Amino acid sequence: MNHDAAMAVIDGSEILWAAHAERYSKIKNDHYLNQQIVNEAKSYGPFDKVVYYEKPILKKTRQLYAGQYGLAFSLSEMPSDHCRKFGIKIDQYVKHHESHAATGYYTAPFRDCVILTVDAIGEWDTISIWTASGGQMNLKETVKYPHSIGILYSAFTQRVGLKPAEEEYILMGMAAYGEPKYKDRIYREFIQRPMPFQLKHNLHIGLKDWMPEADPMDIAASIQAVTEELLANLWSKAASYLPPKGLMYPKHNLVFGGGVALNCAANSKLANLGLFDDIWIMPNPGDAGSSIGCVAAAEKKFLNWQHPFLGHNIEGEYPVDKIIKELKENKMCGVANGRAEFGPRALGNRSLLADPRGPEVKDLVNQIKRRQKFRPFAPAILEEDVNDYFDLPTHVKNTPYMQFTAACTAGKDFPAIIHHDGTSRVQTVRKTDNPGFYELLKEWKKQTGCPILLNTSLNIKGQPIVNDSADGKAFENKYGVKVF
Ligand SMILES: [Fe+2]
Repeated sequence: MNHDAAMAVIDGSEILWAAHAERYSKIKNDHYLNQQIVNEAKSYGPFDKVVYYEKPILKKTRQLYAGQYGLAFSLSEMPSDHCRKFGIKIDQYVKHHESHAATGYYTAPFRDCVILTVDAIGEWDTISIWTASGGQMNLKETVKYPHSIGILYSAFTQRVGLKPAEEEYILMGMAAYGEPKYKDRIYREFIQRPMPFQLKHNLHIGLKDWMPEADPMDIAASIQAVTEELLANLWSKAASYLPPKGLMYPKHNLVFGGGVALNCAANSKLANLGLFDDIWIMPNPGDAGSSIGCVAAAEKKFLNWQHPFLGHNIEGEYPVDKIIKELKENKMCGVANGRAEFGPRALGNRSLLADPRGPEVKDLVNQIKRRQKFRPFAPAILEEDVNDYFDLPTHVKNTPYMQFTAACTAGKDFPAIIHHDGTSRVQTVRKTDNPGFYELLKEWKKQTGCPILLNTSLNIKGQPIVNDSADGKAFENKYGVKVF
């Protein structure tokens, strides 16, 4: 339980299932578990051991320090009490940033690396750097509350009228439309020193009406630029822990985790620094993903990572032909098929798909999504085609979980998927990730000549991404858009 409660069931090195509580309760970013998600977890058999991703008493000491007395003294905020309601006994607690680090490391495609985690706050730590080799993670340094890059970014999220700890991705999107006019001012007023990172004030309570006359787009651009610079310092620091390359150590690898690793605009700039040969950001690097990481940290075992389709299953063949027919006739349709994505992005199994060609598509999809007009949609493309249409960042060969932005080299043909700055948050699709979605893109390209599909999450406005087939039907009934 926390701002995005989740559960995962792991058997040895296999992740059998992992899901977000919100998809079952229909409450966005639900803090709490509910009977439906617990029942689905239990359907995989009795639990031998239950691990929780945070140390609750340590967290309470920080809440006391922060003056959050209500939270600190509330027993209902104790995870053991919350889980007991569902007949679950917690056997072990792992520290918050160790869980973040382990989520990345034990799912990574390499064994030797440096790990960087950056989020708003766990117990006390807000940033951690680890070296890792042969299944062991070694903590090298941390930054502690109230000095937090995540809290700084969330304070600005609130300043522009968005919901902190939830709508940071919108602030990131706004940044492309502004000028970083206030970058120096942010450094002057809020940042004591960039390394080791230290704030001048505790920003947990927000910024109130800082710079009331400023254009929110310029504020967004300014905090995004500051964040990218602060993260660049951290990436360089992390790289400094790696031994020189040689026969024993042929590659420099990074695992990046924590909620800040969802900032795909920053990720691209950081990749372009060229500090690492390989970067692994697991598709759910925020707190929900730690349901996997805390178990991996407790067991110190590598997991057999395959793909993020780990949630609720809607049985049936992937409906390739139906989707193509509908896209040809009506430009847009939903798909709710197979196992739900574990992570914040819809990657083809709970997606609203559209033909990305033509100037009217963005407005057409936006009519359904009813979101800010400036926000473009993401493109999905076969991995083998990506270099023909997008310039991926340095050393990034694919982006199957929409974690990097890339300059689109054919932007005028697909205006709905292009950001103001000419980039897109691209999803590359491999057969091994999702054979159904791969076949769909292949067949779509064969029949229409178009290599791209617009891919956005399938959700009713204000609700989480659809989970089961009843949710899919509810979407179809509400918006009159077919869901297969
Ligand atoms: Fe976190």
